[in-house]
Amino acid sequence: MHSFLSKSPEDTTNYADSFASSLQRNDIVMLIGDLGSGKTQFVKGVCRFFQVRDTISSPTFVMLHRYEGRDGRDEELLLYHFDLYKVKRESEILELGYEEFSQANGICLIEWADKLRELIPHRRAEIRFTLGSTENERRIDIERFPTTRTNSAVDLPYTKKLQSEHPRY
Ligand SMILES: Nc1ncnc2c1ncn2[C@@H]1O[C@H](COP(=O)(O)OP(=O)(O)OP(=O)(O)O)[C@@H](O)[C@H]1O
Ligand SMILES: [Mg+2]
Repeated sequence: MHSFLSKSPEDTTNYADSFASSLQRNDIVMLIGDLGSGKTQFVKGVCRFFQVRDTISSPTFVMLHRYEGRDGRDEELLLYHFDLYKVKRESEILELGYEEFSQANGICLIEWADKLRELIPHRRAEIRFTLGSTENERRIDIERFPTTRTNSAVDLPYTKKLQSEHPRY
């Protein structure tokens, strides 16, 4: 696990920008933390790394935004920015196109990803945000799963249960 103490919104964005250089296509980034803890601020930094030009905001009403970006080779890369705050059942997440977008060769950034249960991907980065002791302090903890990184074909993104419910996996 890697921890960072952010002292300002810019600190969080800069940290996310450098974290983004470790991301690969089809990665899923779970963002977990209370209201106003910095999840969207973090997404802004990831989007900056991928040269997204749109304005980034929490996708509160539509629950999903799609941004066009570019990777390190200047090839097009799509970012899927989910906000699961209002989600009550996991089926709503599937209705948003989660299965498709998590394998669409882009990157998924998921706010309130603690709403995922059966749909937690096997391979993921978990980013946890906690308020610090002063108004602008945030603690950011990053953990990658599985802890030893593999790219093998058997390393499917979903749990066994989901695979059995959705035979095409
Ligand atoms: N160190 C910091 N890192 C990130 N944001 C900070 C920091 N210090 C202050 N802030 C402020 O906290 C707020 C974080 O808002 P942000 O929209 O990123 O939160 P969020 O976790 O996405 O909340 P929500 O669950 O409502 O979507 C912003 O107003 C930002 O300016
Ligand atoms: Mg947000």
